Amino acid sequence: MARSRTCRPIRMKKGAGFSPENVIPADIPATWAAMEGLYDSGKARAIGVSNFSCKKLEELLAVARVPPAANQVECHPVWQQAKLRDLCASKGIHFSAYSPLGSPGTFKSYSVLEHPVVVSTAEKLGKTPAQVALRWGIQAGHSVLPKSTHEERIRANFDVFDWSIPSDLFAGFSEIEQTRLIRGKFWTHPEGVFKSEEEIWDGGCHGNGITW
Ligand code: A2P
Repeated sequence: MARSRTCRPIRMKKGAGFSPENVIPADIPATWAAMEGLYDSGKARAIGVSNFSCKKLEELLAVARVPPAANQVECHPVWQQAKLRDLCASKGIHFSAYSPLGSPGTFKSYSVLEHPVVVSTAEKLGKTPAQVALRWGIQAGHSVLPKSTHEERIRANFDVFDWSIPSDLFAGFSEIEQTRLIRGKFWTHPEGVFKSEEEIWDGGCHGNGITW
């Protein structure tokens, strides 16, 4: 069966445990060449990447024969990834958001669904904060991949296509202070490939880079 395949920038020693000391440098050109082979053979209908920064994407595009179909990364109103979205759009790479709700319950320090801009927009439109977060992503031009184990939430999360956030409220999202929630601290180690979270992401975990 033809499937899609995704290349991620974290590589572990073969057979070693799931632990930061076991991370080794990823050979992205070689990995991508192998994925292009899967694409050529028809075993993969599409090949893409995940967690690729602008830097990693540009480096990949410089050597890729088949450009990635998609880049799937953390994206929600609190980590809007404007620069990366612009780069993907300019290169014809589909941008897809994981954690589009901010993975509620995972981060004690931050709740996207409780952010005042999200909550007030939801109140004004008679929608839930989750619907507003998802609709923001769709209106920003990318796909959103929310996960729920509850049928009523799955249904509500789909109910985001026949209404929109008016432009004045949408503009308010550009004021939201930006912070990456999924930092990858687990993958850092003083003697490992990634000594800091900054190294994983090729730069800031804060900042805005918001263009609208
Ligand atoms: P649950 O499975 O109990 O519904 P994300 O997709 O951003 O990573 O978020 C996934 C988390 O968000 C899951 O824990 C899920 O919990 C929760 N979730 C999914 N849909 C909603 C919703 N409409 N309102 C609140 N939480 C939601």
